[in-house]
Amino acid sequence: MRGQLEKLQRDAEEELRGAVTDEAIQAIRTKYLGRKGVLTSILRGLGGVAPEERPAMGQLANQVKDALSLRIDAVLAGIAASKKDGKLLQERVDVTLPGRGIACGKLHPITLVMQEICGIFASLGFSIAEGPEVELDYYNFEALNMAKDHPSRDMQATFYVTENLLLRTHTSPVQIRVMEKQKPPVRVIAPGKVYRPDADISHSPMFHQIEGLYVDKGVTFGDLKGTLTFFLKHVFGDEIGVRFRPSFFPFTEPSAEVDIRCVMCSGKGCRVCGQSGWLEILGSGMVDPEVFKAVGYDSEEYTGFAFGLGVERIAMLRYGISDIRLFTENDRRFLEQF
Ligand code: DAH
Repeated sequence: MRGQLEKLQRDAEEELRGAVTDEAIQAIRTKYLGRKGVLTSILRGLGGVAPEERPAMGQLANQVKDALSLRIDAVLAGIAASKKDGKLLQERVDVTLPGRGIACGKLHPITLVMQEICGIFASLGFSIAEGPEVELDYYNFEALNMAKDHPSRDMQATFYVTENLLLRTHTSPVQIRVMEKQKPPVRVIAPGKVYRPDADISHSPMFHQIEGLYVDKGVTFGDLKGTLTFFLKHVFGDEIGVRFRPSFFPFTEPSAEVDIRCVMCSGKGCRVCGQSGWLEILGSGMVDPEVFKAVGYDSEEYTGFAFGLGVERIAMLRYGISDIRLFTENDRRFLEQF
């Protein structure tokens, strides 16, 4: 029996050397140490061993079994370790490789120009006001001295939602909303989106305006000129020529359109300024007493000026952009330039 047990040990060792997979090794365990395995069948012969030798044989069988079992565990552990090493090697990260660049978004040129303009007026003590884009006819027109059926409404083609609800055609309704809530002094600018059914190289159905309103005791047309001249020189440079031209808006009296010297030809006359040498840049005027009446301000006590400007127009002149549609096409080659 001793010989059988020693042979078992040698055979198992021999087979283990040739086995490389977990399955093959488990099969060896089953073959030699399993319930129906070689060891069991050897031990069946224990009955034929002389009684005095039986304890020694039993002991030897146990030793062989334990040794083989340990040996198998060790081989399995070795395989697991080398598998893990292989995996680690495969997943190795070279931390010295340069990283991938992160594609970083930028602010839209319209946002940049709006922020710049708001910043200039904030430095003059104006605060920011906002109003809804879907607006009541009352705020967009009526309270601004543009009664229903009044011809001045033709100045602004309009997207109507219902008879009394529309997409605001300008930011001027914010003036009314602010004055309804607040007593003078009032000094606000209102940036935001406005809508008109127009679309061509210089008109977009959605565009941006910034409204300004300054109401207090003793505000004069001189304040209007001073403030707007300061603002335009900030945006277009100290050398820019500015002129105030009489105009008409229903909500201001008197009204003025403000022009700057053409930034393309410096006033010589070109295609952009229609040979006039001047570019119309914003509308303005002294707040009409009818508007004050609508919000319950006493026009004997208070005066004020207001203005409204198109952000796209300023951005186009500032950056030399010739087509307003570029702002909404989301072409990164365009947007990345700012
Ligand atoms: N709301 C006018 C427009 O969209 C612009 C404007 C002109 C605003 C004169 C004003 C103003 O506040 O005083 O055409």
